[in-house]
Amino acid sequence: MKAIVAIIRQEKFDDVKRALMEVGCEGMTVSEVKGRGSQKGIRESYRGSSYCIDLIPKTRIEIVVKSDELDLFVDAIKKAAYTGNIGDGKIFIYPVENVIRIRTGEQGDDVV
Ligand SMILES: Nc1ncnc2c1ncn2[C@@H]1O[C@H](COP(=O)(O)OP(=O)(O)OP(=O)(O)O)[C@@H](O)[C@H]1O
Ligand SMILES: [Mg+2]
Repeated sequence: MKAIVAIIRQEKFDDVKRALMEVGCEGMTVSEVKGRGSQKGIRESYRGSSYCIDLIPKTRIEIVVKSDELDLFVDAIKKAAYTGNIGDGKIFIYPVENVIRIRTGEQGDDVV
């Protein structure tokens, strides 16, 4: 199993959620986070002074999938989250050792 952690634009969340449902994604965890990428935030000027907004609000989606579903889900996120501008986000992929459904005690691939 793999964990997909996608950090995307907040305004792209509905599109990404819809794209994930279309490829059969069920469980997910979503949080509102703040972050910065390679531009280290944005420098803006206001009334002659320069301000650095160094943490920008983003949406974080975490999904644990069977390994053979990984590419399908990653492609869905990539397409739906894309604008082509800086700040579109990143997708991180991690190995997952095990998953346990608390209610039944079942474990492994069939639980995700
Ligand atoms: N190396 C990293 N580690 C952890 N989180 C990151 C990393 N890079 C980006 N992020 C997260 O992803 C969000 C979006 O990053 P962003 O899309 O700006 O990446 P980037 O590398 O600067 O690409 P781009 O040049 O397209 O802006 C950040 O706000 C941050 O939350
Ligand atoms: Mg960036």
